[in-house]
Parts: sequence; structure tokens; C-alpha cells
Amino acid sequence: MAVEILPTHSPVLFEQAVARAASVLRSGGVVGLPTETVYGLAANALDPKAVQRIYDIKGRPRRNPVIVHVAGMEQAQACARRWPAMAETLASGFWPGPLTLVVERHPDIPEVVTAGGATVGLRWPQHPLMQAVIRACGFPLAAPSANLANQLSPTSALHVARELDGRIPLVVDGGQCQVGIESTVVDVTGSQPKVLRPGMISEAAIRRMLGFGAASAPAGAGAGAGPVENAGRVSTPGQAPGGPESDRGMLRSPGQLERHYAPRARLRVLEWGSEQALMEMLGREKIGDPSKVVVLAHTRIPSTGTLPHVCVIPDDPEAYARALYAELHRCDESGAEWIVVETPPAGPAWAGIHDRLRRASAPLG
Ligand code: TXA
Ligand code: MG
Repeated sequence: MAVEILPTHSPVLFEQAVARAASVLRSGGVVGLPTETVYGLAANALDPKAVQRIYDIKGRPRRNPVIVHVAGMEQAQACARRWPAMAETLASGFWPGPLTLVVERHPDIPEVVTAGGATVGLRWPQHPLMQAVIRACGFPLAAPSANLANQLSPTSALHVARELDGRIPLVVDGGQCQVGIESTVVDVTGSQPKVLRPGMISEAAIRRMLGFGAASAPAGAGAGAGPVENAGRVSTPGQAPGGPESDRGMLRSPGQLERHYAPRARLRVLEWGSEQALMEMLGREKIGDPSKVVVLAHTRIPSTGTLPHVCVIPDDPEAYARALYAELHRCDESGAEWIVVETPPAGPAWAGIHDRLRRASAPLG
């Protein structure tokens, strides 16, 4: 492989990797960096040419804005024109962590970052390597997930290296991502927060942090906002969730195009009682050769051998999210044509997982 993978498993290697990455970033280059959610493809967020390189490398649609990563509250506030009370409450409660806050963009943030829009997505990630690189650079880092557009996000350095080999000089290996799916994206520019992309910080947790009860009635004080709207739930294929696009053609929300976060194999989410019932379902779905099928199951595990490739995925939302993309990558590497996923449990903690599986199973185009 042409792309260099920098290890970080000793203090010396960690410091060397930080220095190498920061030096590439300072000169306007692009590097793959670990975060706790998924690996990011990072560039200097204040350098439009550097950010443009991210779009070119990924083949990313120009109207899809990029998240800006910071290492501290002050740095976040410097990227925003206004810092609403809701942003302060959510940032204090969940940062550093898997939460992106959409706020009004500061004029210093180049338009290419925000896809010409008036808002910017900000996140202070938890991963120590990412934090150290941002601090060493002294500027915030624009970073989408480090995959080609519409493909599965990478949760290991090897995933990044395989997909972007020849397109980037280096990726820093910060281990397996501990969250495993992308951050929750919340728009806090209005009077009410809107969850644009569900993630492992649930809508319920956001509501609690803002001082709302379980239902939709505001509990009084809080940050002075109404109930959380989840714009991501009302999407229709090809259209951005939450209604018409705004901001000069920028996608209104990260719901983006419907098929996303997708493995190469076709994916179906199914629920079955017995293995017999599953086989009948596969027949109805015209899923032929069982040797080309990988089943990801968490409770009803096929065991007769009729389906030779069965993978057991943990029945706990945090562990499930951590394992999900790694398993989907493995399915693709094994040459599977179909991935059949046992429907995960319902409930707020699983919302981000359901969202990604729905997007991974959406038809092409
Ligand atoms: O966990 C994550 O969020 C990862 C890591 C690397 O931080 N990043 C990530 O970036 O998933 P990306 O580009 O693959 O997805 C970011 C999503 C996009 O779908 C984009 O539409 C949305 O966030 N987004 C970014 N800025 C936005 C803005 N100003 N308004 C609305 N949505 C925004
Ligand atoms: Mg992405």
C-alpha cells in the first residue's frame, strides 16, 4: 500500500504521529485520523484549498457540508457567529464526545466547509490522538468520515488505508473506534433543537440535558427551547429530511441522500422466528445461493449449517454500534453478495443503529 499507516501504541510513537499529521495539515494536506465515532479525513478548516481537497478525494457532493472538529469550548465558540444557550448546555453535557452542534457560521469559516450555507457543524471529539493533533495545529480540522462518498464509514485505520490508498499520504492508527457509528447531529440555530442525524447520544438524552421531560412538554426552565424535533425521520428518498433544502442548495440536514453508510453487498433487515421461516423469507426476497449470504444475528442465531456464514453481533446498543461497521466491512471483504441483519431491538438507544441500517439497505440511486 502507498498510504503510510502510523502506529500510536507507545508515547513516543503517539507524539511522532501527532507531529507528522500536524505537519501535513499545516502545509495544506489531508490525513486520515481516528475519532471515537469513525475515522475522519482531516484538513485545515480555515484553508479553503485544503478543504476542497477533501471533497475531491472523497468524490463528495459539493452541497454536503463538512463537520469542523475542535479541541475546546473557546475554539468552538470562535467558529460560531452566535453561541446559543442550547449549544452551551449540550456542549457542556456531552463534549468531548459523539455530538455535532449545528450553529450559525462565523465569517472566518470558509464557505466550502459549510457548502455555502449559513451554518456550521461543530464537534469536540473524545479521541486523544485527534485532540492532540488539533492542539498541535492550533486550527480547527474539517473532517468528514474517511471513506469515498456514500460508502461505509471506516472504524479502523486499515479500512481507511484500503479505501483511500493512493489518494492520501498517511493515516494515523488510533485503534478500533469505540463508538462505531457517526455522531448525533443536532441543529441548535432555532428555538427548538432538531436532531438531523441520530447517533449514540439519543434524542432522549438530549431532551433530558436541555431540561425536558420524557414526553414533548417542556419542563419549564431548560435552555428555553421547545421539544426536540427529529428532522431525520421524515425523509423521502432523494430529498433531504426536514423539508426543502435551504442555504443555497446545501443539504438541509445530514440525512443527505437516502442511500448512505452502505456496504457493497445488498443488505436486508429482517425478523424471523425459526431458521425455516428465515429460509422462506430469503426465497421470497430472491436471495439465492446461501454461501453468498452473511447473516448478522443477535438473538435468533441460525445453527443448522444451511446458512454457512453467520455472525453473532452483541445484543446491547453500545456494543452493537461498536461492532456494526466492522462486521459490514468484513462482509464486503469476504465477497458476500447479501447481508441479512436480524432487526435490532426498538427503543431510543437503538435509533442511530436503525437509521444506519435503513440507509444501508436503501435502493441505489
Ligand atoms: O462522527 C462523525 O460525525 C464523523 C467523525 C469523523 O467526526 N464525521 C462524519 O462526517 O460523519 P460526515 O461528513 O461523513 O457526516 C457529517 C454530516 C453530513 O451528512 C453533513 O450533511 C452534516 O453532518 N453536516 C455538516 N455540517 C452541517 C451543517 N452546517 N448543517 C447541517 N448538517 C451538517
Ligand atoms: Mg460520511
